[in-house]
Amino acid sequence: MKKIAIYPGTFDPITYGHLDIIIRATKIFDNIIIAISNNLNKKTIFSLKERIELTKLATLNLKNIKKIIGFNDLLANLAKKEKTNVLIRGVRTIFDFDYEIKLAAINKQIYPDLDSIFLLSSKEVSFISSSFVKEIAKYKGNVKPYLPKEIHFALLEKFNNIYN
Ligand code: COA
Repeated sequence: MKKIAIYPGTFDPITYGHLDIIIRATKIFDNIIIAISNNLNKKTIFSLKERIELTKLATLNLKNIKKIIGFNDLLANLAKKEKTNVLIRGVRTIFDFDYEIKLAAINKQIYPDLDSIFLLSSKEVSFISSSFVKEIAKYKGNVKPYLPKEIHFALLEKFNNIYN
């Protein structure tokens, strides 16, 4: 039986921080489903379709990625639909952990078989967040160290379109 896990997030855009977690998760599980939230409470600069495309580009060379999907549902329901009972979440600092404990508990309440597995971010990328990266790009700072090449170009192009 293949071990499948879901790695959910907003990925606006995917960064080396997310990739660190994805690469390590592919070494633990046979298949990873990357699930990209269409969370309307979070204002994103990339559309859901763009975030899916960019995440596909960034993970092109990785084995064990089963699929990359957008979702507009409760995460627990999505996991059930995808026939998996494991969620992967990356934890960067103790502050992430507080939120993650609550998220894991509510997900378990909705779908009792669902367990969350936390991977600690590698220390080299533990300070990265998509918001920081967007803020730096907005003011024309260097975002190269935080993003795969294709994502770096896409972000620069997006900001050029918005601000020029
Ligand atoms: N490395 C670098 N950055 C990371 C990271 C890592 N390992 N893990 C998370 N981040 C960053 C993200 O870039 C993002 O940064 P930003 O806020 O600056 O954009 C931030 O941490 C939040 O991460 P993300 O993983 O996108 O989580 P989220 O808080 O946006 O939650 C879902 C996304 C999909 C898990 C959540 O919204 C969800 O489950 N939605 C569906 C509805 C639902 O079921 N809700 C729960 C029941 S109420």
